[in-house]
Amino acid sequence: MIKLKDVSKTFKQGAEEIHALKNTNFTAEKGEFIAVIGPSGSGKSTFLTIIGGLQSASTGEVTLAGERVDNINPRQRSKIRFEKLGFILQASSLVPFLKVEEQLLLHAKAAGKKADLKRRAHLLAELGVEQLAKKYPADLSGGERQRVAIATALMHEPEVILADEPTAALDTERALETCRLLRDLTHEYNRTTIMVTHDRRLLQYCDRVYEIRDGVLEEKPELAGK
Ligand SMILES: Nc1ncnc2c1ncn2[C@@H]1O[C@H](COP(=O)(O)OP(=O)(O)OP(=O)(O)O)[C@@H](O)[C@H]1O
Ligand SMILES: [Mg+2]
Repeated sequence: MIKLKDVSKTFKQGAEEIHALKNTNFTAEKGEFIAVIGPSGSGKSTFLTIIGGLQSASTGEVTLAGERVDNINPRQRSKIRFEKLGFILQASSLVPFLKVEEQLLLHAKAAGKKADLKRRAHLLAELGVEQLAKKYPADLSGGERQRVAIATALMHEPEVILADEPTAALDTERALETCRLLRDLTHEYNRTTIMVTHDRRLLQYCDRVYEIRDGVLEEKPELAGK
């Protein structure tokens, strides 16, 4: 479903080179809920955004849902992004002038799916934000915004879900609950989810856990849930 072969990412800053991701090999299958942990600045977001095609790798091959995405043009890439990926990003990306319920429909439309009102109601209820449907993002708390962003990212039934700190703005109970929801959706619908997190309490729900340190990715089987 996702495959990285010898992928690296180097940023040039003046004379200095930052090796954000070093020679990385990684595979994720359908139905897997995977966590990525690591210190700040270790390369977690870089890893996630390269998988999602938000930035390109310096070297190596990236395959997503059976298609190479490292050597295609930006148009093809954004098509794949809209259709196959659900992003839950660090700074949640809601459209300021749309009500919560409209955010979800816009997202389905952008992915070329028709407006499924039943699915929308189901997602809003699952994330506990159905009473906020008529509100604008500015009138929501940080945690509410994050839960709406999750519902929005899932609206078009993406094959791959990429989540960067999806529970950062939530209290403990909500964080655990949201994580379980992501896990259940991943298993039930046979999706592939990669979640970056700082929160080790969430690892019990994950099928596999990876750690990134200084751009080096390593699997940590002992940290994954049973
Ligand atoms: N566009 C960029 N230009 C230059 N350097 C960058 C760029 N993006 C990331 N970096 C550097 O690459 C390294 C990895 O960054 P990345 O954002 O992947 O870290 P992270 O693990 O997600 O950190 P955090 O937990 O703080 O979100 C850092 O040293 C960062 O400063
Ligand atoms: Mg990050």
